[in-house]
Amino acid sequence: TTVYVPRDSAALSLGADEVAANLAQEADRPIRIVRNGSHGMLWLEPLVEVVTERGRIGYGPVEPDAVAGLVAAGMLDGAGHELCQGVVAELPWLRDQTRLCFARVGVTDPLSPEDYVAHGGLAGLRRALRLPPADVVAEVTESGLRGRGGAGFPAGIKWKTVAGTPGPLKFVCCNADEGDSGTFADRMLMEGDPFTLIEGMTIAAYAVGATEGYVYIRSEYPDAVRTMREAIAVAREQGWLGENVLGAGHTFDLFVRVGAGAYICGEETAMLESLEGKRGMVRAKPPIPAITGLFGKPTVVNNVLTLASVPAILAGGAAAYQALGVERSRGTQVFQLAGNVARGGIFETAFGMTLHELVHTYGGGTRTGRPVRAVQVGGPLGAYLPATGLDLPMEYEAFAAAGAMLGHGGVVVFDDTVDMASMARFAMEFCAEESCGKCTPCRVGAVRGVEVIDKIVAGQDPDGNLALLGDLCELMTEGSLCAMGGLTPMPVRSALLHFADDFGPKRAGDF
Ligand code: NAI
Repeated sequence: TTVYVPRDSAALSLGADEVAANLAQEADRPIRIVRNGSHGMLWLEPLVEVVTERGRIGYGPVEPDAVAGLVAAGMLDGAGHELCQGVVAELPWLRDQTRLCFARVGVTDPLSPEDYVAHGGLAGLRRALRLPPADVVAEVTESGLRGRGGAGFPAGIKWKTVAGTPGPLKFVCCNADEGDSGTFADRMLMEGDPFTLIEGMTIAAYAVGATEGYVYIRSEYPDAVRTMREAIAVAREQGWLGENVLGAGHTFDLFVRVGAGAYICGEETAMLESLEGKRGMVRAKPPIPAITGLFGKPTVVNNVLTLASVPAILAGGAAAYQALGVERSRGTQVFQLAGNVARGGIFETAFGMTLHELVHTYGGGTRTGRPVRAVQVGGPLGAYLPATGLDLPMEYEAFAAAGAMLGHGGVVVFDDTVDMASMARFAMEFCAEESCGKCTPCRVGAVRGVEVIDKIVAGQDPDGNLALLGDLCELMTEGSLCAMGGLTPMPVRSALLHFADDFGPKRAGDF
Protein backbone atom coordinates (compact mmCIF):
# COMPACT_ATOMS: atom_id res chain seq x y z
CA THR A 1 0.00 0.00 0.00
CA THR A 2 1.33 3.42 -0.94
CA VAL A 3 0.53 6.35 1.33
CA TYR A 4 1.32 10.00 0.61
CA VAL A 5 2.17 12.38 3.46
CA PRO A 6 3.13 15.91 2.40
CA ARG A 7 6.55 17.40 3.15
CA ASP A 8 5.46 20.95 2.33
CA SER A 9 6.25 23.33 5.21
CA ALA A 10 2.55 24.12 5.71
CA ALA A 11 1.95 20.43 6.42
CA LEU A 12 5.17 20.10 8.43
CA SER A 13 4.11 22.97 10.66
CA LEU A 14 1.00 20.95 11.47
CA GLY A 15 2.87 17.78 12.38
CA ALA A 16 3.21 15.95 9.03
CA ASP A 17 6.55 14.38 10.03
CA GLU A 18 4.98 12.94 13.15
CA VAL A 19 2.00 11.75 11.13
CA ALA A 20 4.39 9.89 8.79
CA ALA A 21 6.30 8.37 11.72
CA ASN A 22 3.08 7.25 13.42
CA LEU A 23 1.83 5.74 10.18
CA ALA A 24 5.00 3.70 9.77
CA GLN A 25 4.55 2.42 13.30
CA GLU A 26 0.81 1.80 13.32
CA ALA A 27 0.36 0.29 9.86
CA ASP A 28 -1.05 -3.25 9.94
CA ARG A 29 0.77 -4.14 6.69
CA PRO A 30 3.91 -3.12 4.84
CA ILE A 31 3.42 0.39 3.49
CA ARG A 32 5.45 2.70 1.28
CA ILE A 33 5.29 6.28 2.48
CA VAL A 34 5.90 8.90 -0.22
CA ARG A 35 6.52 12.47 0.91
CA ASN A 36 4.78 14.64 -1.68
CA GLY A 37 4.22 18.38 -1.99
CA SER A 38 0.94 19.92 -0.90
CA HIS A 39 -2.09 20.02 -3.22
CA GLY A 40 -2.70 23.47 -1.81
CA MET A 41 -5.87 22.76 0.18
CA LEU A 42 -4.27 24.10 3.30
CA TRP A 43 -7.33 23.69 5.51
CA LEU A 44 -6.99 19.92 5.02
CA GLU A 45 -3.30 19.67 5.94
CA PRO A 46 -1.81 17.33 6.84
CA LEU A 47 -3.70 15.60 4.03
CA VAL A 48 -2.81 11.92 3.94
CA GLU A 49 -3.60 10.03 0.74
CA VAL A 50 -3.95 6.28 0.36
CA VAL A 51 -3.60 4.78 -3.10
CA THR A 52 -6.55 2.52 -3.88
CA GLU A 53 -8.20 1.09 -6.99
CA ARG A 54 -10.60 4.05 -6.92
CA GLY A 55 -7.75 6.56 -6.91
CA ARG A 56 -5.94 8.45 -4.17
CA ILE A 57 -8.29 8.67 -1.19
CA GLY A 58 -7.59 11.63 1.09
CA TYR A 59 -7.87 11.96 4.87
CA GLY A 60 -7.45 15.31 6.49
CA PRO A 61 -6.67 17.23 8.48
CA VAL A 62 -4.84 14.35 10.17
CA GLU A 63 -3.32 15.16 13.54
CA PRO A 64 -0.49 12.88 14.68
CA ASP A 65 -2.65 11.46 17.46
CA ALA A 66 -5.41 10.51 15.06
CA VAL A 67 -3.25 8.10 13.03
CA ALA A 68 -3.80 4.98 15.15
CA GLY A 69 -7.58 5.42 15.06
CA LEU A 70 -7.57 5.98 11.31
CA VAL A 71 -5.54 2.86 10.68
CA ALA A 72 -7.87 0.85 12.94
CA ALA A 73 -10.84 2.25 11.02
CA GLY A 74 -9.45 0.87 7.76
CA MET A 75 -7.81 3.93 6.28
CA LEU A 76 -5.22 1.80 4.49
CA ASP A 77 -8.10 0.18 2.56
CA GLY A 78 -9.62 3.57 1.79
CA ALA A 79 -12.48 3.06 4.26
CA GLY A 80 -14.94 5.78 5.17
CA HIS A 81 -14.28 8.00 8.20
CA GLU A 82 -15.23 11.50 9.28
CA LEU A 83 -11.83 12.73 8.07
CA CYS A 84 -12.20 10.95 4.72
CA GLN A 85 -12.42 13.45 1.87
CA GLY A 86 -12.95 10.91 -0.92
CA VAL A 87 -10.90 10.81 -4.11
CA VAL A 88 -8.68 13.88 -3.87
CA ALA A 89 -8.46 14.60 -7.60
CA GLU A 90 -12.27 14.77 -7.71
CA LEU A 91 -12.67 17.40 -4.99
CA PRO A 92 -14.27 20.50 -6.56
CA TRP A 93 -11.41 22.71 -5.35
CA LEU A 94 -8.92 20.68 -7.41
CA ARG A 95 -11.20 19.55 -10.20
CA ASP A 96 -12.18 23.13 -11.10
CA GLN A 97 -8.60 24.33 -11.41
CA THR A 98 -6.47 24.49 -14.55
CA ARG A 99 -3.13 23.38 -13.24
CA LEU A 100 -0.25 23.99 -15.62
CA CYS A 101 2.36 25.53 -13.37
CA PHE A 102 1.23 23.42 -10.40
CA ALA A 103 0.34 20.31 -12.44
CA ARG A 104 2.64 18.04 -10.45
CA VAL A 105 2.62 19.80 -7.07
CA GLY A 106 1.07 17.44 -4.54
CA VAL A 107 0.98 14.62 -7.04
CA THR A 108 4.62 13.56 -7.23
CA ASP A 109 7.60 13.00 -4.98
CA PRO A 110 9.35 16.35 -5.49
CA LEU A 111 12.83 14.83 -5.59
CA SER A 112 12.13 11.79 -7.75
CA PRO A 113 13.41 12.27 -11.30
CA GLU A 114 11.46 9.17 -12.38
CA ASP A 115 8.21 10.67 -11.05
CA TYR A 116 8.99 13.94 -12.78
CA VAL A 117 9.48 12.37 -16.19
CA ALA A 118 6.52 10.01 -15.75
CA HIS A 119 4.28 13.05 -15.17
CA GLY A 120 5.33 14.98 -18.25
CA GLY A 121 8.52 16.56 -16.94
CA LEU A 122 11.26 17.53 -19.42
CA ALA A 123 8.87 17.55 -22.41
CA GLY A 124 9.19 21.35 -22.62
CA LEU A 125 12.96 21.38 -22.34
CA ARG A 126 13.37 18.59 -24.88
CA ARG A 127 11.25 20.49 -27.38
CA ALA A 128 13.05 23.77 -26.66
CA LEU A 129 16.44 22.21 -27.27
CA ARG A 130 15.31 21.08 -30.72
CA LEU A 131 14.33 24.65 -31.68
CA PRO A 132 16.68 27.53 -32.46
CA PRO A 133 16.92 29.76 -29.34
CA ALA A 134 15.15 32.64 -31.10
CA ASP A 135 12.15 30.39 -31.73
CA VAL A 136 11.96 29.56 -28.03
CA VAL A 137 11.84 33.27 -27.24
CA ALA A 138 9.16 33.75 -29.90
CA GLU A 139 7.11 30.91 -28.44
CA VAL A 140 7.17 32.52 -24.99
CA THR A 141 6.21 35.88 -26.51
CA GLU A 142 3.31 34.36 -28.45
CA SER A 143 2.05 32.55 -25.37
CA GLY A 144 1.31 35.94 -23.82
CA LEU A 145 3.14 35.02 -20.59
CA ARG A 146 3.64 38.08 -18.38
CA GLY A 147 5.85 38.37 -15.34
CA ARG A 148 4.16 36.68 -12.40
CA GLY A 149 6.21 38.55 -9.80
CA GLY A 150 3.60 41.27 -9.99
CA ALA A 151 4.48 43.81 -12.65
CA GLY A 152 3.21 41.68 -15.53
CA PHE A 153 5.91 42.67 -18.01
CA PRO A 154 5.83 40.37 -21.10
CA ALA A 155 8.38 37.61 -20.43
CA GLY A 156 9.21 37.05 -24.10
CA ILE A 157 10.12 40.70 -24.61
CA LYS A 158 12.42 40.63 -21.60
CA TRP A 159 14.09 37.47 -22.90
CA LYS A 160 14.46 39.01 -26.35
CA THR A 161 16.29 41.98 -24.82
CA VAL A 162 18.72 39.64 -23.05
CA ALA A 163 19.15 37.45 -26.13
CA GLY A 164 19.81 40.50 -28.28
CA THR A 165 22.41 42.02 -25.95
CA PRO A 166 25.81 40.72 -26.97
CA GLY A 167 28.18 39.39 -24.33
CA PRO A 168 30.17 36.28 -23.48
CA LEU A 169 28.51 35.84 -20.08
CA LYS A 170 24.79 36.04 -19.31
CA PHE A 171 22.75 34.97 -16.32
CA VAL A 172 19.28 33.74 -15.45
CA CYS A 173 18.19 34.76 -11.95
CA CYS A 174 15.06 33.48 -10.33
CA ASN A 175 13.49 35.81 -7.81
CA ALA A 176 12.25 33.57 -5.00
CA ASP A 177 12.30 36.29 -2.35
CA GLU A 178 8.56 35.96 -1.95
CA GLY A 179 8.13 38.69 0.63
CA ASP A 180 4.50 39.69 0.12
CA SER A 181 2.26 38.83 3.03
CA GLY A 182 -0.39 36.31 2.00
CA THR A 183 1.71 34.80 -0.78
CA PHE A 184 3.22 31.34 -0.72
CA ALA A 185 2.99 29.94 -4.25
CA ASP A 186 6.72 30.31 -4.95
CA ARG A 187 7.51 28.39 -1.81
CA MET A 188 5.01 25.64 -2.55
CA LEU A 189 6.30 25.21 -6.08
CA MET A 190 9.91 24.97 -4.92
CA GLU A 191 9.03 22.51 -2.17
CA GLY A 192 6.53 20.54 -4.21
CA ASP A 193 7.99 20.43 -7.72
CA PRO A 194 11.49 21.96 -7.85
CA PHE A 195 12.40 20.29 -11.15
CA THR A 196 9.81 22.41 -12.94
CA LEU A 197 11.64 25.56 -11.87
CA ILE A 198 14.97 24.04 -12.88
CA GLU A 199 13.50 23.08 -16.25
CA GLY A 200 12.03 26.56 -16.80
CA MET A 201 15.32 28.24 -15.92
CA THR A 202 17.21 25.90 -18.24
CA ILE A 203 14.85 26.75 -21.10
CA ALA A 204 15.32 30.47 -20.38
CA ALA A 205 19.10 30.02 -20.33
CA TYR A 206 19.09 28.21 -23.66
CA ALA A 207 16.78 30.83 -25.19
CA VAL A 208 18.93 33.82 -24.21
CA GLY A 209 22.37 32.17 -24.27
CA ALA A 210 23.01 32.15 -20.52
CA THR A 211 25.32 29.62 -18.89
CA GLU A 212 24.82 30.30 -15.21
CA GLY A 213 21.76 30.73 -13.03
CA TYR A 214 20.88 31.66 -9.47
CA VAL A 215 17.78 31.03 -7.41
CA TYR A 216 17.55 33.76 -4.76
CA ILE A 217 15.45 32.37 -1.92
CA ARG A 218 14.45 34.22 1.22
CA SER A 219 15.94 32.88 4.43
CA GLU A 220 12.46 32.41 5.89
CA TYR A 221 12.06 29.42 3.54
CA PRO A 222 14.58 26.88 4.88
CA ASP A 223 12.65 23.88 3.52
CA ALA A 224 12.49 25.39 0.05
CA VAL A 225 16.23 26.09 0.21
CA ARG A 226 16.97 22.47 1.15
CA THR A 227 14.63 21.03 -1.47
CA MET A 228 15.96 23.26 -4.26
CA ARG A 229 19.57 22.39 -3.39
CA GLU A 230 18.80 18.67 -3.37
CA ALA A 231 16.86 18.94 -6.61
CA ILE A 232 19.73 20.76 -8.32
CA ALA A 233 22.12 18.01 -7.24
CA VAL A 234 19.76 15.37 -8.64
CA ALA A 235 19.35 17.33 -11.88
CA ARG A 236 23.12 17.49 -12.29
CA GLU A 237 23.41 13.71 -11.76
CA GLN A 238 20.69 13.17 -14.34
CA GLY A 239 22.45 15.36 -16.92
CA TRP A 240 19.60 17.90 -16.89
CA LEU A 241 22.08 20.57 -15.79
CA GLY A 242 25.78 20.99 -16.41
CA GLU A 243 28.12 20.96 -19.37
CA ASN A 244 25.93 19.25 -21.92
CA VAL A 245 22.27 19.60 -20.97
CA LEU A 246 20.40 16.46 -22.10
CA GLY A 247 23.20 15.82 -24.57
CA ALA A 248 22.15 18.82 -26.66
CA GLY A 249 25.41 20.72 -26.27
CA HIS A 250 24.17 23.66 -24.14
CA THR A 251 25.92 24.41 -20.84
CA PHE A 252 23.92 25.64 -17.88
CA ASP A 253 24.50 25.33 -14.17
CA LEU A 254 22.41 26.55 -11.29
CA PHE A 255 23.05 27.69 -7.71
CA VAL A 256 20.92 28.64 -4.72
CA ARG A 257 21.61 31.85 -2.78
CA VAL A 258 19.83 32.69 0.45
CA GLY A 259 18.69 36.19 1.42
CA ALA A 260 18.96 37.65 4.90
CA GLY A 261 15.45 38.81 5.61
CA ALA A 262 14.97 42.10 3.78
CA TYR A 263 11.72 42.65 1.89
CA ILE A 264 13.49 45.05 -0.48
CA CYS A 265 15.65 42.22 -1.80
CA GLY A 266 12.58 41.08 -3.71
CA GLU A 267 12.99 44.21 -5.82
CA GLU A 268 15.04 42.95 -8.73
CA THR A 269 17.97 45.38 -8.58
CA ALA A 270 18.30 45.07 -4.80
CA MET A 271 18.27 41.30 -5.31
CA LEU A 272 21.13 41.60 -7.80
CA GLU A 273 23.12 43.70 -5.32
CA SER A 274 22.51 41.05 -2.67
CA LEU A 275 23.54 38.28 -5.08
CA GLU A 276 26.77 40.19 -5.69
CA GLY A 277 27.44 40.04 -1.96
CA LYS A 278 26.51 43.63 -1.21
CA ARG A 279 23.83 45.22 0.95
CA GLY A 280 20.42 45.01 -0.74
CA MET A 281 20.00 48.56 -2.03
CA VAL A 282 17.91 49.50 -5.04
CA ARG A 283 19.75 50.52 -8.23
CA ALA A 284 18.39 53.26 -10.44
CA LYS A 285 16.77 51.96 -13.63
CA PRO A 286 17.76 52.33 -16.45
CA PRO A 287 19.91 50.48 -17.10
CA ILE A 288 17.52 47.54 -16.86
CA PRO A 289 18.88 44.18 -15.65
CA ALA A 290 18.13 42.65 -19.06
CA ILE A 291 21.04 44.72 -20.37
CA THR A 292 23.15 45.45 -17.28
CA GLY A 293 22.24 42.91 -14.63
CA LEU A 294 24.17 40.57 -12.34
CA PHE A 295 27.84 41.65 -12.23
CA GLY A 296 26.93 44.06 -15.01
CA LYS A 297 26.04 41.27 -17.46
CA PRO A 298 22.79 40.78 -19.39
CA THR A 299 20.45 38.97 -17.01
CA VAL A 300 17.00 37.45 -17.10
CA VAL A 301 15.31 38.17 -13.78
CA ASN A 302 11.99 36.38 -13.47
CA ASN A 303 9.78 35.26 -10.61
CA VAL A 304 9.46 31.55 -9.71
CA LEU A 305 5.99 31.26 -11.23
CA THR A 306 7.00 32.92 -14.50
CA LEU A 307 9.86 30.48 -14.98
CA ALA A 308 7.82 27.52 -13.75
CA SER A 309 5.12 28.30 -16.33
CA VAL A 310 7.60 27.99 -19.20
CA PRO A 311 7.93 24.17 -19.38
CA ALA A 312 4.17 23.78 -19.89
CA ILE A 313 4.20 26.51 -22.55
CA LEU A 314 6.96 24.81 -24.51
CA ALA A 315 5.44 21.37 -24.04
CA GLY A 316 1.91 22.32 -25.04
CA GLY A 317 2.73 25.13 -27.47
CA ALA A 318 2.12 28.87 -27.27
CA ALA A 319 -1.33 28.66 -28.83
CA ALA A 320 -2.72 26.34 -26.16
CA TYR A 321 -1.47 28.65 -23.41
CA GLN A 322 -2.65 31.76 -25.20
CA ALA A 323 -6.11 30.22 -25.56
CA LEU A 324 -6.55 30.48 -21.78
CA GLY A 325 -7.36 33.74 -20.02
CA VAL A 326 -8.87 37.03 -21.08
CA GLU A 327 -7.80 40.27 -22.74
CA ARG A 328 -4.09 40.82 -22.24
CA SER A 329 -3.90 38.39 -19.32
CA ARG A 330 -3.26 35.02 -20.92
CA GLY A 331 -2.71 31.59 -19.48
CA THR A 332 -3.16 30.75 -15.83
CA GLN A 333 -2.33 32.48 -12.58
CA VAL A 334 -1.66 30.73 -9.30
CA PHE A 335 -3.87 32.59 -6.84
CA GLN A 336 -3.17 32.33 -3.14
CA LEU A 337 -6.06 32.64 -0.71
CA ALA A 338 -5.11 33.72 2.79
CA GLY A 339 -6.07 35.79 5.78
CA ASN A 340 -9.47 35.36 7.36
CA VAL A 341 -10.78 32.82 4.87
CA ALA A 342 -12.53 29.51 5.50
CA ARG A 343 -10.58 27.59 2.87
CA GLY A 344 -7.14 28.99 2.21
CA GLY A 345 -4.59 27.73 -0.25
CA ILE A 346 -3.55 27.57 -3.87
CA PHE A 347 -5.99 27.99 -6.73
CA GLU A 348 -4.52 27.95 -10.24
CA THR A 349 -6.96 29.03 -12.91
CA ALA A 350 -7.14 30.91 -16.18
CA PHE A 351 -7.28 34.69 -15.76
CA GLY A 352 -10.80 36.08 -15.77
CA MET A 353 -12.51 34.43 -12.78
CA THR A 354 -14.00 37.09 -10.52
CA LEU A 355 -12.52 37.89 -7.14
CA HIS A 356 -15.95 37.20 -5.66
CA GLU A 357 -15.97 33.65 -6.99
CA LEU A 358 -12.49 33.04 -5.67
CA VAL A 359 -13.20 34.41 -2.20
CA HIS A 360 -16.73 33.10 -1.74
CA THR A 361 -17.24 30.03 -3.93
CA TYR A 362 -13.81 28.52 -3.40
CA GLY A 363 -12.57 30.31 -0.29
CA GLY A 364 -15.92 29.85 1.44
CA GLY A 365 -15.99 33.39 2.86
CA THR A 366 -14.37 34.23 6.18
CA ARG A 367 -13.08 31.69 8.65
CA THR A 368 -14.79 33.56 11.48
CA GLY A 369 -18.10 33.32 9.63
CA ARG A 370 -18.54 37.10 9.82
CA PRO A 371 -19.17 39.18 6.69
CA VAL A 372 -16.24 39.96 4.40
CA ARG A 373 -15.39 43.65 4.72
CA ALA A 374 -12.20 44.04 2.69
CA VAL A 375 -9.94 42.01 0.45
CA GLN A 376 -6.37 43.00 -0.25
CA VAL A 377 -5.00 41.70 -3.51
CA GLY A 378 -1.35 41.77 -4.60
CA GLY A 379 0.49 41.87 -1.30
CA PRO A 380 0.92 44.53 1.39
CA LEU A 381 1.33 47.21 -1.28
CA GLY A 382 -1.86 46.20 -3.09
CA ALA A 383 -5.21 47.95 -2.82
CA TYR A 384 -7.99 47.05 -0.37
CA LEU A 385 -11.22 46.32 -2.17
CA PRO A 386 -14.56 46.65 -0.39
CA ALA A 387 -16.99 43.71 -0.21
CA THR A 388 -19.11 45.44 -2.87
CA GLY A 389 -16.18 45.59 -5.29
CA LEU A 390 -15.42 41.91 -5.61
CA ASP A 391 -16.98 41.36 -9.01
CA LEU A 392 -13.70 42.39 -10.64
CA PRO A 393 -12.27 39.81 -13.02
CA MET A 394 -8.85 38.56 -11.97
CA GLU A 395 -7.00 40.25 -14.79
CA TYR A 396 -4.13 42.80 -14.84
CA GLU A 397 -5.85 45.67 -16.65
CA ALA A 398 -9.22 45.38 -14.90
CA PHE A 399 -7.43 45.67 -11.56
CA ALA A 400 -5.32 48.60 -12.72
CA ALA A 401 -8.46 50.39 -13.92
CA ALA A 402 -9.95 49.93 -10.45
CA GLY A 403 -6.90 51.53 -8.81
CA ALA A 404 -5.74 48.12 -7.64
CA MET A 405 -3.21 45.52 -8.74
CA LEU A 406 -3.17 41.80 -9.24
CA GLY A 407 0.51 41.59 -8.27
CA HIS A 408 1.80 38.17 -7.42
CA GLY A 409 -1.73 36.81 -6.97
CA GLY A 410 -2.04 36.96 -3.20
CA VAL A 411 -5.59 37.45 -1.88
CA VAL A 412 -5.98 38.34 1.81
CA VAL A 413 -9.48 38.42 3.29
CA PHE A 414 -10.65 40.55 6.26
CA ASP A 415 -13.95 40.40 8.12
CA ASP A 416 -16.02 43.31 9.44
CA THR A 417 -13.93 43.70 12.60
CA VAL A 418 -11.01 45.14 10.64
CA ASP A 419 -10.08 48.77 11.26
CA MET A 420 -9.01 50.14 7.90
CA ALA A 421 -7.30 53.24 9.29
CA SER A 422 -4.93 50.96 11.16
CA MET A 423 -4.37 48.97 7.97
CA ALA A 424 -3.50 52.18 6.13
CA ARG A 425 -1.13 53.10 8.94
CA PHE A 426 0.39 49.62 8.71
CA ALA A 427 1.25 50.18 5.03
CA MET A 428 3.28 53.27 5.93
CA GLU A 429 4.82 51.53 8.94
CA PHE A 430 5.80 48.58 6.77
CA CYS A 431 7.44 50.88 4.24
CA ALA A 432 9.31 52.75 6.96
CA GLU A 433 10.57 49.43 8.31
CA GLU A 434 11.54 47.92 4.96
CA SER A 435 12.73 50.92 2.94
CA CYS A 436 16.32 50.51 1.74
CA GLY A 437 16.81 54.20 2.46
CA LYS A 438 18.27 55.16 -0.87
CA CYS A 439 15.57 57.62 -1.95
CA THR A 440 13.96 60.35 0.16
CA PRO A 441 10.27 59.93 -0.80
CA CYS A 442 10.29 56.37 0.51
CA ARG A 443 12.71 56.73 3.45
CA VAL A 444 11.24 59.93 4.88
CA GLY A 445 7.77 59.80 3.32
CA ALA A 446 6.82 56.59 5.05
CA VAL A 447 7.74 57.94 8.49
CA ARG A 448 5.77 61.13 7.84
CA GLY A 449 2.92 58.99 6.53
CA VAL A 450 2.57 57.18 9.86
CA GLU A 451 2.57 60.49 11.72
CA VAL A 452 -0.01 62.17 9.54
CA ILE A 453 -2.39 59.18 9.68
CA ASP A 454 -2.12 59.24 13.47
CA LYS A 455 -3.05 62.93 13.46
CA ILE A 456 -6.05 62.36 11.21
CA VAL A 457 -7.34 59.58 13.40
CA ALA A 458 -6.76 61.66 16.52
CA GLY A 459 -8.92 64.38 15.00
CA GLN A 460 -6.13 66.97 14.64
CA ASP A 461 -7.01 69.27 11.73
CA PRO A 462 -8.46 66.37 9.73
CA ASP A 463 -9.00 68.40 6.55
CA GLY A 464 -5.51 69.84 6.50
CA ASN A 465 -3.90 66.53 7.34
CA LEU A 466 -5.96 64.62 4.79
CA ALA A 467 -4.77 67.07 2.13
CA LEU A 468 -1.22 66.59 3.37
CA LEU A 469 -1.60 62.81 3.20
CA GLY A 470 -2.90 63.13 -0.36
CA ASP A 471 0.15 65.19 -1.34
CA LEU A 472 2.47 62.77 0.39
CA CYS A 473 0.92 59.81 -1.43
CA GLU A 474 1.35 61.57 -4.75
CA LEU A 475 4.97 62.39 -3.99
CA MET A 476 5.80 58.84 -2.93
CA THR A 477 4.07 57.39 -6.00
CA GLU A 478 5.78 59.70 -8.45
CA GLY A 479 9.12 60.25 -6.79
CA SER A 480 10.26 56.93 -5.31
CA LEU A 481 13.08 55.04 -6.94
CA CYS A 482 11.27 51.69 -6.93
CA ALA A 483 7.93 50.05 -6.29
CA MET A 484 8.48 49.89 -2.50
CA GLY A 485 7.85 53.60 -1.95
CA GLY A 486 5.95 53.89 -5.22
CA LEU A 487 3.23 51.45 -4.28
CA THR A 488 2.89 52.08 -0.54
CA PRO A 489 0.27 54.79 -1.18
CA MET A 490 -1.95 52.25 -2.97
CA PRO A 491 -3.32 50.52 0.15
CA VAL A 492 -3.52 53.89 1.92
CA ARG A 493 -5.51 55.56 -0.84
CA SER A 494 -7.83 52.59 -1.27
CA ALA A 495 -8.54 52.53 2.46
CA LEU A 496 -9.33 56.26 2.39
CA LEU A 497 -11.52 55.87 -0.68
CA HIS A 498 -13.56 52.86 0.38
CA PHE A 499 -13.46 53.04 4.16
CA ALA A 500 -13.39 56.76 4.93
CA ASP A 501 -15.51 56.30 8.07
CA ASP A 502 -12.69 54.44 9.78
CA PHE A 503 -10.53 57.56 9.67
CA GLY A 504 -12.86 59.54 11.92
CA PRO A 505 -11.72 60.87 15.30
CA LYS A 506 -13.96 58.36 17.07
CA ARG A 507 -11.37 55.75 16.28
CA ALA A 508 -8.59 57.56 18.14
CA GLY A 509 -6.88 55.28 20.60
CA ASP A 510 -7.62 52.20 18.55
CA PHE A 511 -3.98 51.87 17.59
P1 NAI B 1 8.67 47.27 -13.47
O1 NAI B 1 7.42 47.51 -14.21
O2 NAI B 1 9.65 48.36 -13.30
O3 NAI B 1 9.46 46.08 -14.19
C1 NAI B 1 8.95 44.84 -14.43
C2 NAI B 1 10.02 44.00 -15.09
O4 NAI B 1 10.15 44.31 -16.46
C3 NAI B 1 11.41 44.18 -14.51
O5 NAI B 1 12.04 42.93 -14.50
C4 NAI B 1 12.08 45.12 -15.49
O6 NAI B 1 13.48 45.01 -15.48
C5 NAI B 1 11.50 44.64 -16.77
N1 NAI B 1 11.50 45.61 -17.86
C6 NAI B 1 10.94 46.86 -17.85
N2 NAI B 1 11.11 47.45 -19.04
C7 NAI B 1 11.78 46.57 -19.83
C8 NAI B 1 12.23 46.58 -21.19
N3 NAI B 1 12.02 47.62 -21.97
N4 NAI B 1 12.87 45.49 -21.65
C9 NAI B 1 13.08 44.42 -20.86
N5 NAI B 1 12.67 44.34 -19.59
C10 NAI B 1 12.02 45.40 -19.07
O7 NAI B 1 8.22 46.69 -12.07
P2 NAI B 1 9.08 46.20 -10.79
O8 NAI B 1 9.47 47.40 -10.01
O9 NAI B 1 10.13 45.24 -11.18
O10 NAI B 1 8.00 45.37 -10.00
C11 NAI B 1 6.91 45.98 -9.37
C12 NAI B 1 5.91 44.91 -9.00
O11 NAI B 1 6.46 44.06 -8.05
C13 NAI B 1 4.65 45.44 -8.39
O12 NAI B 1 3.68 45.61 -9.37
C14 NAI B 1 4.27 44.39 -7.39
O13 NAI B 1 3.15 43.69 -7.83
C15 NAI B 1 5.42 43.46 -7.36
N6 NAI B 1 5.84 43.08 -6.02
C16 NAI B 1 5.99 41.75 -5.79
C17 NAI B 1 6.38 41.26 -4.58
C18 NAI B 1 6.49 39.78 -4.36
O14 NAI B 1 6.76 39.33 -3.22
N7 NAI B 1 6.33 38.95 -5.38
C19 NAI B 1 6.68 42.18 -3.48
C20 NAI B 1 6.50 43.57 -3.81
C21 NAI B 1 6.11 43.98 -5.05
